Amino acid sequence: MRTQVGIVGAGPAGLMLAHLLSLQGIESIVIETGKRTDVEHRVRAGVLEQGTADLLDACGAGGRMRSEGVVHDGVVLRFRGEDHRIDLGALTGRGVTVYGQQEIVKDLIAIRLRDGHPILFEVSNVQLHDIKREHPWISFLLDGASIRIDCDVIAGCDGVDGVSRDSIPKRSLTTYSRAYPFAWLGIVATVAPSAADIVYCHHERGFAFLSTRSPAVSRLYLQVAPEERIGDWPDTRIWEELETRLAAHGWSLHDGPITGKGITSMRSLVVEPMQFGRLFLAGDAAHVVPPTGAKGMNLAIREAGILAEALTMWFRTGDISPLDAYSARCLRRVWRAQHFAWWMTSMLHRFPDSDASQVQLQLAQLDYTVNSPAAAKSLAENYVGYEWASE
Ligand code: FAD
Ligand code: DHB
Repeated sequence: MRTQVGIVGAGPAGLMLAHLLSLQGIESIVIETGKRTDVEHRVRAGVLEQGTADLLDACGAGGRMRSEGVVHDGVVLRFRGEDHRIDLGALTGRGVTVYGQQEIVKDLIAIRLRDGHPILFEVSNVQLHDIKREHPWISFLLDGASIRIDCDVIAGCDGVDGVSRDSIPKRSLTTYSRAYPFAWLGIVATVAPSAADIVYCHHERGFAFLSTRSPAVSRLYLQVAPEERIGDWPDTRIWEELETRLAAHGWSLHDGPITGKGITSMRSLVVEPMQFGRLFLAGDAAHVVPPTGAKGMNLAIREAGILAEALTMWFRTGDISPLDAYSARCLRRVWRAQHFAWWMTSMLHRFPDSDASQVQLQLAQLDYTVNSPAAAKSLAENYVGYEWASE
């Protein structure tokens, strides 16, 4: 097989890139190790920055997001049992849209298949070759057959556990990595959200978090120790702990059947640069942010936009400068997101070694953030997605 852009991974980054390229008449082939149904039902992110929602709209992939997603123009910080609303709309003129990542993945797969372009699911033994040369290629197995795709460029969109990042010699990358001393236990429950806004809650027993998926479905998280096992958390224990941590004056938590639950470790990772020869990394293949800032999927989709723009310029005019600038342009956004996610994480979580004064420092920061218009605005503009005036 031969294509212009070989795309490894059918997550938000790979699917968005494939769609944006096809709108420009640029051919690509997407390969994916997972089954279509697994990829379409992987519950993860849910908060779209305004710029991400706008990009989905602009490329014709925003229809269902606009009709089924819910726009939030505020977010709540809950501490000492009281709510403090950050008015995203008033502070920034923008908001966020809650729409599940797996719904975006479904929408993008449907568009690609409708347009008659290939996605090869359930491939295995994926390897990248000659990525430093002019004619890189990908090899893999599909239904027992060995396949080779010759490409002009390869996009590594295969997430944190993919093969793309590891195909780059270690000496050519700088890796920044940090593990947090806690994890998130997340659930999806069939119950109307107990609050109108997303709630981030500081509590002495640890962080708790309330989000939505639809008027009838809630998404909730609890900070837990990294070694916790989901089997030790029967539904009643989860609801009791959520109730304790989320308790607030004049407010009660609605519970309901839990339809999905899992534990996710908290880590941060960045590799620099996001390019090696003819291989470009996008999304979690190049970086992971702790989920507290709700940035991972947004970065993945926006990087697909930046890469599509640069590739279009190169294929159309031969001008390589936007491709040469791709990594630096993305990394500036990545480090802003990393800082915001680290700041939110540090302010809201209970650290195993934290003493009473550290808790007071967190509360002082929260108090300042919700009371100072300047501090509230800083949180708000990062939450809805900070857009650099010059890129
Ligand atoms: P992925 O979604 O990981 O997709 C990569 C794809 O590549 C996968 O389908 C995988 O099967 C495939 N693959 C892997 N290896 C190979 C291979 N060798 N060959 C071919 N295919 C391969 N982000 C937000 O923006 N907002 C949020 O609110 C948010 N909340 C989150 C909550 C949780 C609990 C978690 C875990 C994450 C959250 N994130 C959030 C982060 C977000 O989900 C990720 O950043 C996002 O999935 C990154 O997309 P991606 O396309 O880069 O990678
Ligand atoms: C969701 C997840 C997040 O990590 C976050 O910061 C906000 C919302 C969610 O799944 O809805």
